[in-house]
Amino acid sequence: MSFPFLIFGGMNNNPKYILVTGGAGYIGSHTVVALSKRGYIPIIIDDFRNSNRDVLERISALVDQELIHFSISCQNKERLRGVFSQFPIWGIIHFAADKSVSESVENPLKYFDNNMGGLVSILELASEHEVNNFVFSSSCTVYGEPKKIPVDESFPVSHNSPYGYTKKVNEEMIEQFAASQSGFKSTLLRYFNPIGAHESGTLGEEPNGKPDNLLPYITQTAAGIREELTIFGDDYDTPDGTCIRDYIHVVDLAEAHVEAMNQLENPPTPIQVFNIGTGKGTSVLELVKYFEKNTGEKLKYKIGKRRKGDIPAIFANTEKAEKDLRWKSRLTVEDAVIDAWKFEQFIRNKRNRE
Ligand code: UFG
Repeated sequence: MSFPFLIFGGMNNNPKYILVTGGAGYIGSHTVVALSKRGYIPIIIDDFRNSNRDVLERISALVDQELIHFSISCQNKERLRGVFSQFPIWGIIHFAADKSVSESVENPLKYFDNNMGGLVSILELASEHEVNNFVFSSSCTVYGEPKKIPVDESFPVSHNSPYGYTKKVNEEMIEQFAASQSGFKSTLLRYFNPIGAHESGTLGEEPNGKPDNLLPYITQTAAGIREELTIFGDDYDTPDGTCIRDYIHVVDLAEAHVEAMNQLENPPTPIQVFNIGTGKGTSVLELVKYFEKNTGEKLKYKIGKRRKGDIPAIFANTEKAEKDLRWKSRLTVEDAVIDAWKFEQFIRNKRNRE
């Protein structure tokens, strides 16, 4: 069997194939670009339930390799098996999952089915094909409502929603699977709040319908698609009364996955857990102000009621990631709002042309 892409791989003479499930999604697409730039050969698996097929073209325009991609759901083991047989996969980054907290409260079975089922089937194939390097897309939601902040990786895990429950259980599933497989290594990355877009303005977050998350709602309001932003509560016990989150630029987050893959060559322990955030908290009102100041757009907003399930404040202790993963965020919230606004305009222009 020949592998036509082995001639690529930048600085690496023996490039490694990395299967990226959910590789056409928001974080997945940025990670595919970052992997490719660092000499890996990503293989995208996505069923496009929550992403657009034209993302593939836009990723291709940003990388020097011919893009390898398959339209397959993670639960379709037969078709996935074909991909595992076709390529000598070295590692897997598993993003593919449903991710709306509110939807998970209304439809928990969808989350149990896709988030648990998808992981089981990927791990089964990893075992069959002896793929021992696994990076998992987890979330700071596994800390529930922490008793103090910043949170570090030793804090107890809990959950506030069926979505959070799936992430917590997924982490445990990986730990128990690893204990049963000799040589299997995994890094669990607990993301804080990913925002922003690729600096080209051609990759970013494209929510289907009304956005759940703050920055896409802000950019859509500024673009005139939404009438106004509702800030969910200004009576929290925080300096300006609005909730505090740790907003991490998606390009920095993508880099964390590349570092995690590099480190899986020779990790200190089979399972590693890292917080991926900036270590800095930003309130909802501060994010609105950053947006207005850096884009020159005036945002229409009102203060509304608290959103059910929101915690007042959370941000990361990032010492472990800095020390053991040798990763640190580089970009700022200002960079993120500028890039997200650029992407919002790109999407509008694209839709207007279609
Ligand atoms: N917010 C508003 N108005 C909006 C949208 C959000 O005021 O229209 C506020 C929220 O109340 C919250 C903050 O903006 O205080 C951030 O909300 P997001 O929905 O952007 O993010 P969350 O922190 O609620 O959720 C995110 C991810 C989840 C993840 C969770 C972990 O979306 O996947 O972080 O805490 F599980």
